[in-house]
Amino acid sequence: PAELRELLLSRITDIPDHPQPGVVFKDITPLLADPAAFGALTEAFAELCGRHRVDKIVGLEARGFILAAPVAVRAGVGFVPVRKAGKLPGTTLGQTYELEYGTAEIEIHTDALAPGDRVLVIDDVLATGGTADASLQLIRRAGAEVAGLAVLLELGFLAGRQRLEPGLKGAPLEALITV
Ligand code: PRP
Ligand code: MG
Repeated sequence: PAELRELLLSRITDIPDHPQPGVVFKDITPLLADPAAFGALTEAFAELCGRHRVDKIVGLEARGFILAAPVAVRAGVGFVPVRKAGKLPGTTLGQTYELEYGTAEIEIHTDALAPGDRVLVIDDVLATGGTADASLQLIRRAGAEVAGLAVLLELGFLAGRQRLEPGLKGAPLEALITV
């Protein structure tokens, strides 16, 4: 609803020229510091878990972890981390993706998801969609189903939603705020 959107948007700060000149960084730390706003965000994401029959929540390192973990507890489902390459201790599946300059890689534990698990991916920001798209591929390669992708903030002008369309295969992309 518009009220939730306004509350959340009022707690996200624009930081010009970070981390590079010309980039406007969306800082969610004021939102995290406000228990009413963080609580409302957690409730909104947890509600998606019931609606989309979610079995597991995947959070994307690092900022996605902060948002996803309380949602998993609230919804009563397990939390699974997707980490930057080299951090997970067990046997992993890895997926590389394109950055503006060069490539990055994320990983998931091979046994973190069971066949048929319905997984909701949570991250803070959808920009180009590279990170999210790689996570969807990991979930499918791990043998599970994508129940949906939920983000706090979608940067519409970067067209991440269009990039994700093939990877979502009809699963919903829920953005609480789109700018
Ligand atoms: C940021 C953000 C998203 C991603 C979005 O993460 O948190 O995960 O970029 O960009 P994309 O849609 O173009 O892939 P980043 O890896 O910069 O840092 P973090 O570890 O602080 O989350
Ligand atoms: Mg991130």
